[in-house]
Amino acid sequence: MKFFIDTANLDEIKELNDLGILDGVTTNPSLMAKVGVQGRENVLKHYKTICEMVDGDISAEVISTDFEGMLREGKELAALHNNIVVKVPMTRDGIKAIKAFSEMGIRTNCTLIFSVGQAILAAKAGASYVSPFLGRLDDVSTDGLSLIEDLVLVFANYGFDTEILAASIRHPMHIVECAKIGADVVTCPGSSIDKLFNHPLTDIGLAQFIADYKKVEG
Ligand code: E4P
Repeated sequence: MKFFIDTANLDEIKELNDLGILDGVTTNPSLMAKVGVQGRENVLKHYKTICEMVDGDISAEVISTDFEGMLREGKELAALHNNIVVKVPMTRDGIKAIKAFSEMGIRTNCTLIFSVGQAILAAKAGASYVSPFLGRLDDVSTDGLSLIEDLVLVFANYGFDTEILAASIRHPMHIVECAKIGADVVTCPGSSIDKLFNHPLTDIGLAQFIADYKKVEG
């Protein structure tokens, strides 16, 4: 299972990358706004910095909603670095753009996926990744994890190359359940990844080992 971090915060990215367990980064316009990156030039510079930090796929989202605009923006983003994956929203123009990008050899991540049907369209258009937003489905009393389960089944039925990138992760159990189901990638806030470290028995066990060592070693 690949681990992506869902942030545009360079400190958070560096911290996880330094642990050696980071496979990529996803961003979106809201995450870029959260770290105060404004203006096209700064946005492009920020993506480039992330690409130079992390040896893995970096999703950079287009802002345009029309086909021509998405193509223009996507080509500009893809030209920044080999690690860039162009993130395109799940719309009719988005699907058309994904098809065009796939014919140009530009990798894509189809975002804002909330149903199996949407994911099938994206996979057929040649998306490298689909991003089902499981936390946002949970927020509207719909089981996000069952969408991941359905996608794993359907993609296996047809041998789609498109990877399932579970997004909108809210807590560590989302990560564990996605791993059990077989999502290819999870993209998570650093806080959810951090919580995977914790277990009280680990802390108790370690304290006991150190105490016993001190008893005999002084
Ligand atoms: C990832 O690609 C998405 O942008 C992200 O996971 C959305 O998460 P949220 O629902 O917590 O905003």
